[in-house]
This record gives sequence, C-alpha cells and structure tokens, in this order.
Amino acid sequence: MTEQPAPSPALLPHVLLSAAMSLDGHIDDATAERLVLSTPEDLDRVDQLRAESDAILVGAGTLRADNPRLLVNSPERRAERTARGLPEYPLKVTLSGSGELDPDWRFWHTGGARVVYTPDTAVGTARRRLGALAEVVPTGPSLDPVTLLADLASRGVSRLMVEGGSTVHTLFLTSGLVDEIQLAVAPFFVGEAEAPRFTGPGAFPQSARRRMTLTGTQTLGDIAVLRYAVQPTGKVTAADLEWMRLAVDLSRQCPPSETAFSVGAVIVGADGRELARGYSREGGDPTVHAEEAALAKLPADDPRLRGATIYSTLEPCSRRASRPRPCAELIRAAGIPRVVMAWREPALFVADCVGAELLEAAGATVLETPQLAEEARAVNSHL
Ligand SMILES: NC(=O)c1ccc[n+]([C@@H]2O[C@H](COP(=O)([O-])OP(=O)(O)OC[C@H]3O[C@@H](n4cnc5c(N)ncnc54)[C@H](OP(=O)(O)O)[C@@H]3O)[C@@H](O)[C@H]2O)c1
Ligand SMILES: [Zn+2]
Repeated sequence: MTEQPAPSPALLPHVLLSAAMSLDGHIDDATAERLVLSTPEDLDRVDQLRAESDAILVGAGTLRADNPRLLVNSPERRAERTARGLPEYPLKVTLSGSGELDPDWRFWHTGGARVVYTPDTAVGTARRRLGALAEVVPTGPSLDPVTLLADLASRGVSRLMVEGGSTVHTLFLTSGLVDEIQLAVAPFFVGEAEAPRFTGPGAFPQSARRRMTLTGTQTLGDIAVLRYAVQPTGKVTAADLEWMRLAVDLSRQCPPSETAFSVGAVIVGADGRELARGYSREGGDPTVHAEEAALAKLPADDPRLRGATIYSTLEPCSRRASRPRPCAELIRAAGIPRVVMAWREPALFVADCVGAELLEAAGATVLETPQLAEEARAVNSHL
C-alpha cells in the first residue's frame, strides 16, 4: 500500500471583529442593563455579516452580561445559506477560562450548534454545567486563540465573526489574528470610567499600531460604520503562501552543493511590496545564505525592515562555521518582526538549529507553512 501524504492543514479562518461603540469608545455603559448603541438598520447589517460567516464567537462575559441569542434573524438569509449547502445558522462559539457557564443562557437553546473553548483546567466544570448543550473543547494549559482557530478550521470554518466583548476583542487583536474590523459608531457619549471599551489596554502588534487601511465607510441613519483591514501578523495567510512559493522558486536557482542546503528568501514590507530577495550561494559566493543575501541588498537601517516579514524556505540558521553571525542573528539585528519558514532545519550539517527559538526569544513572531514544507524539502532531496 502506498502511503498517502498527510493533508496539509487549512489556513486559519478569516477573522472579522464587529462592535458597536459610543463616540467615546464604549461598547456598553456601567449599569447592568444592556446599552442600546445600534439601530434596526445597523442590526440588519450585522445580520447580513452573520449570514456570511461560518461561525460567530462571543466571550463568556458577553453571555453573562447580555444573554444574547446570536441568530441570523432574516428567514431569507437563512434560506440562502441552506440553498448554498450551509447549515441554516452559523456555528456559535464561546470561550471561557473558568467554565462557569449557565445552562439557562439563550445561547445554548437557539440557532446553530455550539462549541465552547476552555483551558484544560476548566473542561470538567464546563462539561458538568452544560451536559449535551454544547461541545466543550480543551485548548491546552491556557486559552490559546491559535488552537481555537485551528480547531475551527478543522470544522470547515473559514470565516469567523467575533462579536465581543472587550476582553475577547483585545485577545484576538493582540494575538495578531484579526483580518478585518467593522465598527458602528453611535452618536452619543457614555462618559463612565468603568464602562467597557471596544478593547482594553494590551500589547497590540505593530500592524495594528501603525495606520491601518480604511476600506470603507457607510452611513446608516445616525450610525457611521467604519471598516478597516488589519494585517494578521500572528497567522499564515494566503498572501504568505504566495510569497513562500516565490521563495521556493528562488531556492531552485541555487548553484548545486553536496554540502549545503538550497534555500530561497524574500523580504516583504508591511505594505505587501517586495523589498529584497536572495538565495543560497547567490553571486557565486559558496558560503552565502539566502536570508543573508536578501538582507545585504538593503541598508541596515532601512526603516521598512521594522514592519517587514522575511520568508525563508528553511529555518534561519543559529550557528554557522563560515560567518561570525548566523542568519537568525542578522534578522534580529535588522529588526524584522515576523519570520515565516517552510521547513525546519534537519540536523545534517549543524546539530540542533534553534533559529526559530532565538528569534522568538528576541520578540519576533515565527510562523511555519507546513503547506509548502514538502516543496521546500524536495529541492534538497539530494542531501
Ligand atoms: N457593543 C457591542 O458591540 C458589544 C458586543 C459584545 C459585548 N459587549 C459588551 O462587552 C461587555 C463584556 O465584555 P467582557 O470583556 O466582560 O467579556 P467578553 O470579552 O465577552 O468575555 C470575557 C470572558 O471570556 C473568557 N476569556 C476571554 N479571554 C480569555 C483568556 N485569554 N483566557 C481565558 N478565558 C478568557 C473569560 O471567561 P470566564 O469568565 O468564563 O472565565 C472572560 O471572562 C458587556 O458589557 C457587553 O455588553 C458589547
Ligand atoms: Zn543562514
């Protein structure tokens, strides 16, 4: 029997953050009553967004505070979903650190199937509370949103709509997992210090701290809807796979060697434009590495490097005989905050490459594209 290659993992879902807020950035007031920010017209827009999503997520705090149903209300939109072969309602998703979830909440008794993500420690509590009302999925020692998204992807979710609250919006944004934000701004102030805001304080990634792209505005009565595109630096996107394909093509240009890997590398700016590219032994230098060749084409103090991504078909080296500074160190020194690699270095020439660990320890985001690992490896199959 021939062995089937393992199916390559799906990309993590597209994440849309959706919220309504006051002019002073609050998504509720400080009272126990739910603050009405939206209008019927705006709720219809949200209904359409839900109908276009495979899953809708809110935090347990929102379930506790508002007891929402999270339905697609329009029968036409539901019929359209069914006609497209989708479930009538999107999957409903919540997350809880404590597992303290009330089985009487409307969330469990209306609309589509329900999934709860909790850290391992809270699984028992959540399952005891909910019984058959929802599937409870552990995410490991902590509530890791990447694990949550990977699990949703394995369920066929490619579009996730996140509808709050404050803690959950902050979690997804600070993890670099958000692709898009839609904010409905209501024309009044709340003015209460204790009232929750759209997001809390947090270590937002650079891609959300610099000016994002305003992709659209809409007027719905007295509500202004603002749409932003965010670069999701914490996950691999379709664009990342395209750049990695280019890096794999570059690795095919390497002069052959029996004693060194053939690697391709591309550096791409925050605006999605290529800054430089390189490949191993480029220009006839038998010792030059791909990342080093690409970096050498840019001034060391090029400010675009601080928002760039470097794609390398192989994990950047952490030790090398031919040069004083390995590629992981060169990337760190250049200030590149995001590193995407296709393949981990096997212990052929240097035992235990720890390039990824070094870069992560220096604060960079390091991601892998298992989807292209086989292609990157195949270029080196003679070694
Ligand atoms: N205007 C709007 O568009 C809008 C939309 C939604 C909500 N809201 C408002 O937002 C407020 C609720 O916000 P919130 O921040 O309190 O609640 P939330 O973000 O909905 O949920 C927070 C809860 O989610 C769980 N959680 C989140 N991150 C976690 C992590 N990293 N690890 C473990 N558990 C985690 C915890 O559940 P456990 O407590 O179970 O551990 C936490 O208490 C309400 O006032 C609501 O009205 C407004
Ligand atoms: Zn190297």
